[in-house]
Amino acid sequence: MKKKFLSLFLAAGMLMTGALAGCAKKADSKKIGVAMPTKSLQRWNQDGDNMKKKLEAAGFTVDLQYADDDIATQVTQIENMINGGCKVLVIASIDGGSLGTVLATAQEKKIPVIAYDRLIMGSDAVSYYATFDNYKVGTIQGEYIRDTLKLDSEAGPFNIEVFTGDPGDNNARFFYDGAIDVLKPYIDSGKLVVKSGQLEFDKVATAGWKTENAQSRMDAIISGNYADGTKLDAVLCSNDSTALGVENSLEANYTGAYPIITGQDCDKPNVKNMINGKQAMSVFKDTRTLADQVVEMVKAIMDGKDAPVNDTKTYDNGKKVVPSYLCTPEFADKDNYKKLLIDSGYYKESDLA
Ligand code: BGC
Repeated sequence: MKKKFLSLFLAAGMLMTGALAGCAKKADSKKIGVAMPTKSLQRWNQDGDNMKKKLEAAGFTVDLQYADDDIATQVTQIENMINGGCKVLVIASIDGGSLGTVLATAQEKKIPVIAYDRLIMGSDAVSYYATFDNYKVGTIQGEYIRDTLKLDSEAGPFNIEVFTGDPGDNNARFFYDGAIDVLKPYIDSGKLVVKSGQLEFDKVATAGWKTENAQSRMDAIISGNYADGTKLDAVLCSNDSTALGVENSLEANYTGAYPIITGQDCDKPNVKNMINGKQAMSVFKDTRTLADQVVEMVKAIMDGKDAPVNDTKTYDNGKKVVPSYLCTPEFADKDNYKKLLIDSGYYKESDLA
């Protein structure tokens, strides 16, 4: 009797161990690595949360990591994902040009890589790229300034200053080009004047996209050019974190009426500033849409199929033109933010109070 019970117990134990091993194996065979740049900016937290939620809902397990904007940390996290058995890597890089070596390892192990929002440069290990139409983001900002200042009918001249993003982020160049291609003819004709003289990409870049870096550059621009009461009409800011720095600086140092300030992302502090009149517009990029698209890519790859793309010529990373899916960015201001952000469930009204 005792013996029978013992063998039954052993058999049950073996069955359970087998099932557990099976489970672990199953889980591992569906593990996806998601590398995000930083928790310090709202959007990447949303991107990471959305990716994890949506991948898990599709039956995958997720190794989600944030790298605190530190390149070495991101490289280590990606190494760990590779060694930890991730089957696909989804990476929003900190510096697009710094992942070549670690991605060569991914390639050796035949692990496909999706560049998330920011293109990974100089590596042929990148299988796909999913982003928003980055040039269009800049176009929306440039056209807004053109139309609001009525550059085609008013005599001007109008004063403008320019702030873009991190030079290691390939997107920054696209945002800048999209806007400057609209505004350059007016700068050339003298209708728009950049009093600081800072217009070249390298002069207007903001290291790390950091609010404090934009703010200190704006402090210097105001004291050198606008402290005598000269009117500043517009500030082209490529995104909301730089716009916030410009707004903080104006608040402290500038007494005239607020210039037109552009942005991108619809970060909560910036939407509040749109409502209270300190920022004219932003560009809404619904991170839920991007996450949905990347989940579709992961599913296709895991099924051994080609992933859906809608652009096969724009994004050359120096080694290959990376097949891309571009989501559509949308203009946002105080008149349509309710529809875009609240009605769609992106934010709650109380988030913006
Ligand atoms: C993203 C922007 C973001 C910026 C700073 C860019 O790569 O496309 O949405 O504002 O990085 O994080």
